[in-house]
Amino acid sequence: MEQEKKSQTTAEQMTDRDLSEQIKKVTMEIHTRAEKTELMMSFMRGQVTLAQYKLLLCSLYEVYQTLEEEMDRNSNHPGVAPIYFPTELARLDAIAKDLEYFYGRDWREKIVVPAATKRYCHRLRQIGKENPVFLVAHAYTRYLGDLSGGQVLGRIAQKSMGLKSSEGLSFFAFPGVSNPTLFKQLYRSRMNSVELTEEERNGMLEEAVRAFELNIQVFDDLQKMLLTVPEQKLQTCSTQSVNTLQILIGKTAPLFRMVMGLFVALATVSIGLYAFREDA
Ligand code: HEM
Repeated sequence: MEQEKKSQTTAEQMTDRDLSEQIKKVTMEIHTRAEKTELMMSFMRGQVTLAQYKLLLCSLYEVYQTLEEEMDRNSNHPGVAPIYFPTELARLDAIAKDLEYFYGRDWREKIVVPAATKRYCHRLRQIGKENPVFLVAHAYTRYLGDLSGGQVLGRIAQKSMGLKSSEGLSFFAFPGVSNPTLFKQLYRSRMNSVELTEEERNGMLEEAVRAFELNIQVFDDLQKMLLTVPEQKLQTCSTQSVNTLQILIGKTAPLFRMVMGLFVALATVSIGLYAFREDA
């Protein structure tokens, strides 16, 4: 709380050179694109389904597991330390609680994620190993997003899915953040305190756009999964990742069945005609 108050003065003195301002500016366009994805539009229309939300939680679990592991591992890095707020921001336990609520105790065996989620996690691991300072861009994209539009989405989700209590919605709750607006100001001032070379600054801005792009790809892949893999299969599937091939098979299955049907029909007619000629 005290920290949040102190940050207010710092936040008011922001300049165009501040990373927080630059990052907001460069991601403005792609933020709009993220808002317009089918999944986010379902949220905004108040039409998000249980199937959509459950699948999203599965992917968020993988993403936050990787992000938070990399943040923990690099918590003493000078670029990461200022924005390291595990008590206030960590989402992993909250998501695990939601997954247990929806999938039951053996949720770990049931979660499914699309290939895009694996790609996102791969990038987070790479950044954590090779260039930890860029974790700032990823942490910003997820945590500040969760503390901003995410708060509205949580309330909408509760209504859309007809959930009576806040059970299954822990992901949206930040009990360690009493005032999200003040906390975001503190976070921005901490981002601005990270010392960066010009090259690192440009790399950071690129990485933030990439972080949004990776999120968009996850949302789009989730929608594809919902179209192609039946809900029942999604609930019982124990595979860790549904790859593009599986999605493709799912898509082509009806066409394949039709071609096979036609083939069998033609073969039957041909045999009939042949038999007829033999008789004559
Ligand atoms: C329907 C979807 C979304 C809505 C309605 C929404 C809405 C908003 C709003 C109103 C703000 C401004 C809050 C403020 O100025 O205090 C905001 C900020 C933000 N959003 Fe979203 N958002 C959505 C999706 C996303 C997604 C998918 C991401 C990234 C994965 C994201 C990341 C962010 C970030 C990082 C900020 C902080 C910007 C800054 O202050 O620098 N948002 N969002």
